[in-house]
Amino acid sequence: MSSSAQPIAGSIVILDFGGQYAHLIASRIRRFGFKAYILPADTKAQKLQNVAGIILSGGPQSVYEKGSPQADPAVLDLGIPVLGLCYGHQWVAQTLGGKVAPGIVKEYGPVDIERVDSDLFSGLPKRFMVWMSHGDEVKELPKGFVTIASSRNCIHAAMMNEARNIFGIQFHIEVVHTEHGMEILRRFVDLCSPESWSIESYAAHVGEEILKEVGEKKVFMLVSGGVDSTVAFTLLNKVLGEDRVQGLLVDTGLMRKGEVAAIQKAFVPLGIRNLQIEDASEKFFAALKDVYEPEAKRAVIGRTFLDVQREVSERMGLRMMEGSPSTRSARSGQSPIGDWMLGQGTIYPDTIETGGTQHSDKIKTHHNRVELVQKMIEEGLVIEPLKELYKDEVRQLGEELGLPHELVWRHPFPGPGLGVRILCAEKPAVLEKISNSQFPISNSLVLPVRSVGVQGDGRTYRHALALFANNHSCPTDQHYELASSIPNESKTINRVLFCLSHAKPFEITFTPTYIEKGNADLLREADAIVTDAIRESNLYETIWQFPVVLLPFGEKKDMRSIILRPIESTDAMTAAAYRLPKDVLQNITKSILKLKGIDAVFLDLTNKPPGTIEWE
Ligand code: XMP
Repeated sequence: MSSSAQPIAGSIVILDFGGQYAHLIASRIRRFGFKAYILPADTKAQKLQNVAGIILSGGPQSVYEKGSPQADPAVLDLGIPVLGLCYGHQWVAQTLGGKVAPGIVKEYGPVDIERVDSDLFSGLPKRFMVWMSHGDEVKELPKGFVTIASSRNCIHAAMMNEARNIFGIQFHIEVVHTEHGMEILRRFVDLCSPESWSIESYAAHVGEEILKEVGEKKVFMLVSGGVDSTVAFTLLNKVLGEDRVQGLLVDTGLMRKGEVAAIQKAFVPLGIRNLQIEDASEKFFAALKDVYEPEAKRAVIGRTFLDVQREVSERMGLRMMEGSPSTRSARSGQSPIGDWMLGQGTIYPDTIETGGTQHSDKIKTHHNRVELVQKMIEEGLVIEPLKELYKDEVRQLGEELGLPHELVWRHPFPGPGLGVRILCAEKPAVLEKISNSQFPISNSLVLPVRSVGVQGDGRTYRHALALFANNHSCPTDQHYELASSIPNESKTINRVLFCLSHAKPFEITFTPTYIEKGNADLLREADAIVTDAIRESNLYETIWQFPVVLLPFGEKKDMRSIILRPIESTDAMTAAAYRLPKDVLQNITKSILKLKGIDAVFLDLTNKPPGTIEWE
């Protein structure tokens, strides 16, 4: 559990070349019940001597390009089974003397392959469909290898050296679209005979690790209301006892309805009483007055959080441990050397620096990993008991620890809370060069607000288009199709909505809006209506997330609009608009329109991409 070392002996290690799917591979192997960890692509072979198997991931570059990520060639001489996937497959071929070059035809998406018998494929159909995504291909096999699968355009779609237990596969066995992908991965895993892994065994040994790491010290922990910090806090309490743990929950005024009470209630049967609740909502609202820009809002919320934390820990007389002079100066304002370390609910995906980080386009710095925290981690001032777990494992552990099912399976909620769901603006966004005539839809209205979207590798900041229909209780397939085609064709629209409250476009009346108590309360009520409705109709766990957003305009003066944004997803990287049943939509709309201050309701029909899940 120490911050850098992972217990990799006996596990399958994924060396990450920066592909999107490294976590998918590791979490699938865990689901099989075996240990799996992700390490940087250039990890030295010497460090890997005791692992059970090595998987080389995909990656965005070409293996022959200068500066492309490279593994230690000695990993191929350890006598441990190796499987290269996509870039990993090409790296194995090139490293062992084969040839990699651009393919004549690039293959993206579904492709049929024909396979021959081999450890990985025997017993599978002779032909099956796989998911490819590559421009380069292996042109010549290295010595000692044979081809075990081919597609029409890629002869060496899979290869093996049976004597050395080294395999390479061009296609992505880890994605659901590849037929038999899981069976192939499972066969490789069985060849490696890794050590088993389960949340129960993890829970059994993690206690000893925490005791070792914390020693004589105590742990101070910010509990956000989210699943991860709640589970981490519970675990620390169980292991260390309440005298050695102190939790702080800062009520920002931007939390969901009843959230603070639900967390307090969940802790009662577990005997956890050491959670200090600090109502700092007034402070947050004061700091957010007249702040309109999305990133500025996030910055103000983050800063206010830190101020409150410092204030409360000083008031409580908690002396946080200090590190080296540089860490100390960066944390100016903290009291002298103390005996409290910081607890964080960081989970596994947030801790991994991918091998391709320096090469990939977009990496967001997780707030648990800002520079100062990173330094504190290196100096042993931080404990993160969930840092080896995936989200669903954290949830299982939460249940093991006795937290209520509804609490640990709640929808993900952004750190800045309702703050990112109140769309703020001082004046209407100018509708530059947009006219409805641009679209062959008479019943539509371009809205005077912009939201964030994602297209290709970049983020967009564009207008939303609302569609109207005489029968306005539920959108049709055609409306959903327009939600895909319009953002693809338009340079000014990135989201398509369906109006649930009006049959025809209406004259919009804009109301300047920043985050304050009144509109936070209003949105909180609308959000609660939605949560209750989908719980009642048993859809809560089918829908992955359901942001409810407040917009700064309505039909009448001082009125605002609500957006419903239900989505299906597995990892938030991509998402599809979830199609709610008509009666659920009608009930939600009716209840929301009864709220004082709301006179329009829209449903967001946009997938991600081109929209993002949140509006900003
Ligand atoms: P997007 O909007 O980028 O969101 O499609 C993907 C996932 O991330 C969550 N999200 C956030 N979480 N702080 C957070 O802790 C944030 O500022 C933030 N913005 C988006 C979002 O709810 C979704 O699950």
